[in-house]
Amino acid sequence: MQGKGFFITGTDTCVGKTTIAAAIALNLKRKGLDIGIMKPFATASKKYNSKYKSADVAMLLDITKVKDKYNNINPFFSSLPTAPYTASLIKKSDKVDIAGAVRSYTKLASAHDQMIVEGIGGIMVPLTRTKSLVDFAKAINLPVIIVARFQLGMINHILLTVRACLDYGLSVTGIILNDLTSWNDPVKKEMIVETIEKTSRVSVLSIIPFIENRIPEKVAGILERCPRFMSLESSNLCPGQKY
Ligand SMILES: Nc1ncnc2c1ncn2[C@@H]1O[C@H](COP(=O)(O)OP(=O)(O)O)[C@@H](O)[C@H]1O
Ligand SMILES: [Mg+2]
Repeated sequence: MQGKGFFITGTDTCVGKTTIAAAIALNLKRKGLDIGIMKPFATASKKYNSKYKSADVAMLLDITKVKDKYNNINPFFSSLPTAPYTASLIKKSDKVDIAGAVRSYTKLASAHDQMIVEGIGGIMVPLTRTKSLVDFAKAINLPVIIVARFQLGMINHILLTVRACLDYGLSVTGIILNDLTSWNDPVKKEMIVETIEKTSRVSVLSIIPFIENRIPEKVAGILERCPRFMSLESSNLCPGQKY
C-alpha cells in the first residue's frame, strides 16, 4: 500500500531537497495536517551541534516543530561526508541498518497524518553493498517528488532519476525545478519544462527561483500559489506516472 506523504529525492546533492522538503511540510501543516518528518540517512563532515547531528534535521525540525525521538527521525548519521556505504567501509561502526530505518519510519508514520521524508544525495546512493536509497524508498513506498537543480544537464539527470524510481516500482508524483543559481538560460523555461514533461511523462510542479533569507517559508508561499502542487496536496492521491 502506498504511504501518505512524499519522499523527496534529488538529482544530486545540494539541489534544494531539504529546503523544499521543509517547504512542503510547512505547506501541509498550514492545511491543518499533522506532519512527521524523517531524514533516515545523513552524512556530513561534522555534527551540526550538540542537539542535532544533522543540519538537515535541524532545519526540518525548526520548520515543523515536530517532537518525535531524534533517533527515529534520523537513525543513521556519519561524520564522513560521503555515501553511507562508503562511510561504513571506512568506519565499521557506521553500518547502515535499512530494516531499522524502515521500523523508525513505521513508528513515525503511525503517529502522523503524513510523512515528509528527505533522501540523501540522489536516488541511487549506496546504503550497503547491495542496497541503495531507492530500496529504502520502495520499502516505505511513499510517492516521490524529484528536486532538480535548474541548470544545463538537468534533463538527463531527471530522466535517469525518474527511470530508476519507476524501475523499482515507485510512483513519481512530480518534479520541482530549483533555480538556485539563477541560471541565465538562453532557452525559454517553457521549452525545457515541455521537454521534461514529454520525455519523462511526469509533471513539473513548480520552478522555484533564487531566494534570499527565510528560504523554506518563501518556497512554501510559492508552492501555495502553484495550482499543480496544491491539487496534489489536497487529495494526496498521487497515482504517479507510468511509462
Ligand atoms: N531557491 C533557492 N534559492 C536560494 N538558495 C537556495 C534555494 N534552494 C536551496 N538553496 C540553498 O542551497 C543550499 C543547498 O540546499 P539544500 O536544501 O540543503 O539542498 P540538499 O538538501 O539537496 O543538499 C542551501 O544553502 C540552501 O539554503
Ligand atoms: Mg539535504
